[in-house]
Amino acid sequence: MILVTGASGQLARRIITHLHAAGADVTEGSRSPASGGRTLDFDSPAALDLTGVETLVLVSAGYAEDDVVLARHSAVLEAARRDGVGHVLYTSLVGAGDHLGFALAHRATERALRRSGLDWTIMRNGLYAELVGALLLWDEGGLQSPFGDGHVAAPTRDDLALAAARVAAAPGRHAGSVYELTGPPFTVGDIARELDAPVQDLPLGEYRRRLLASPALLPFEPPMLASIATSVRHGFLADHGSDLTGLLGRDPHPGVEAAAAAAWLQSPQPA
Ligand SMILES: NC(=O)c1ccc[n+]([C@@H]2O[C@H](COP(=O)([O-])OP(=O)(O)OC[C@H]3O[C@@H](n4cnc5c(N)ncnc54)[C@H](OP(=O)(O)O)[C@@H]3O)[C@@H](O)[C@H]2O)c1
Repeated sequence: MILVTGASGQLARRIITHLHAAGADVTEGSRSPASGGRTLDFDSPAALDLTGVETLVLVSAGYAEDDVVLARHSAVLEAARRDGVGHVLYTSLVGAGDHLGFALAHRATERALRRSGLDWTIMRNGLYAELVGALLLWDEGGLQSPFGDGHVAAPTRDDLALAAARVAAAPGRHAGSVYELTGPPFTVGDIARELDAPVQDLPLGEYRRRLLASPALLPFEPPMLASIATSVRHGFLADHGSDLTGLLGRDPHPGVEAAAAAAWLQSPQPA
């Protein structure tokens, strides 16, 4: 049986859908599981039950400080070892993302997985195209962007999910592999053309000031978001390799369309 964690999340949902479509024996794990699913809250280590799981798809657990995320992932790996899980697929972060504020938790989890004695596959996901679009700001004049002219090789969530499902369905072939999962690079200028909207550059200092002034953000979020902006702006997430094409058996979908759709959802709608 394949168990996918974080089943209520956007990535995990799509992985589960693809596994069902492939006829796999899949169970959902979540803090709030659907009927037939397993309750899995990584913040409650004593209650983690992974008995009967052959392949665990460990979707990285949410947005939080590094110590919180690492405690969650360590607890799951400990339970996987104890309960005899055969293979762990971990959804990590693309290698080029080492300058991002949330990279450390991913790299530390990869290290723990390599040392765990479990069989593993590491899926290093590029920045979601949908996230790139959602991070753009709007004012009356159109889009505002901290990303400059930087290219970003951001794949769609759905292509990443399909790749994860392919690996989870036949994990033996992928044991010990680290996949760098990127899509065709695009710029915010390309998103703006899709939307036929003007775009104004937001220097990093002004972007950070706005983040720090936002009451909606948790303390760890402004530096994390600013790290995404500077990495994209300066071309650190631009490189596109072939691992995703290899797993999908076709070219990844262009992320620019998904990014534009996500940006459009944030646009001010007429009352
Ligand atoms: N590559 C990227 O661009 C990128 C961007 C943002 C985030 N991420 C990472 O990728 C993951 C999946 O992305 P997404 O878009 O699907 O995020 P999402 O829709 O916001 O879902 C958040 C996920 O975190 C899980 N989670 C939170 N706290 C948990 C806990 N205590 N125990 C177990 N699971 C917990 C949720 O599981 P349940 O609610 O079902 O328990 C859910 O799967 C995120 O959690 C994050 O680590 C990647």
